[in-house]
Amino acid sequence: MIRRPNVVITGANRGIGLALAQHYAGAGYDVTAIVRRSSPQLEAIATTIIDGIELTGAQGIAAVAAKLKRQAIDLLLNVAGIMQWETLEELNFDKVRTQLEVNALAPLALSTALIPNMGEGAKIVFLTSRLGSIADSTSGKGYGYRISKAALNMAAKTLSVDLKSRGIHVGLLHPGSVKTSLNKLGGQIEVSESVAGLTARINELSAETSGKFLHQNGSELAW
Ligand SMILES: NC(=O)c1ccc[n+]([C@@H]2O[C@H](COP(=O)([O-])OP(=O)(O)OC[C@H]3O[C@@H](n4cnc5c(N)ncnc54)[C@H](OP(=O)(O)O)[C@@H]3O)[C@@H](O)[C@H]2O)c1
Repeated sequence: MIRRPNVVITGANRGIGLALAQHYAGAGYDVTAIVRRSSPQLEAIATTIIDGIELTGAQGIAAVAAKLKRQAIDLLLNVAGIMQWETLEELNFDKVRTQLEVNALAPLALSTALIPNMGEGAKIVFLTSRLGSIADSTSGKGYGYRISKAALNMAAKTLSVDLKSRGIHVGLLHPGSVKTSLNKLGGQIEVSESVAGLTARINELSAETSGKFLHQNGSELAW
């Protein structure tokens, strides 16, 4: 029997993560959502919801790995993230550390914990941000967010190299400036536009594009 493709998504209760979950459910995937708390919209479409998962710290990651033990994963989408937009005057290292934990260390920890579930052709995607581009850092502020996404970019790029021989492809995708509650700068595009681009890029993700830092519109971003 041919099994349905599946996707595992963090941060799937709201925002871009929810819209990605809705897209893949509509496309016939089994959707496993990893969340701190569920939402009615998520409950309407997810196949499996693993809730109560705080992604920072080893306990949450170990709980997810235990629940998904022996389940093959086709696509892992690391979407959960936070943004605190501190100015130089507001710089607070506890906040910087928290953003680093949530935005860079947690997705790397989850992805590496789930590598045993993935075979050739599987994909791991990280939602990164252009605000993590050092080359494009021209407007100041946002120390913790920028540092955390730059760190995520390095983690994901390195993972793409390490997973090349296993045929697992790694995507680093900037969703655009999207109108969600995370975006402290307002946002320029709707979630639907972002998800249309993100899912096209995920579809195209291959050995050739693995490890590239891409905008959802397909353009390559400078590190
Ligand atoms: N929106 C944009 O313009 C934009 C631009 C560039 C990149 N991104 C990236 O895209 C991703 C999604 O952003 P969004 O705009 O959809 O944000 P959002 O609507 O604020 O959703 C954030 C999600 O992350 C989850 N989350 C946050 N901290 C967590 C933690 N410690 N453990 C588990 N889950 C946690 C939230 O869960 P709770 O509901 O439990 O808080 C929520 O599901 C993020 O990685 C973000 O950095 C967004």
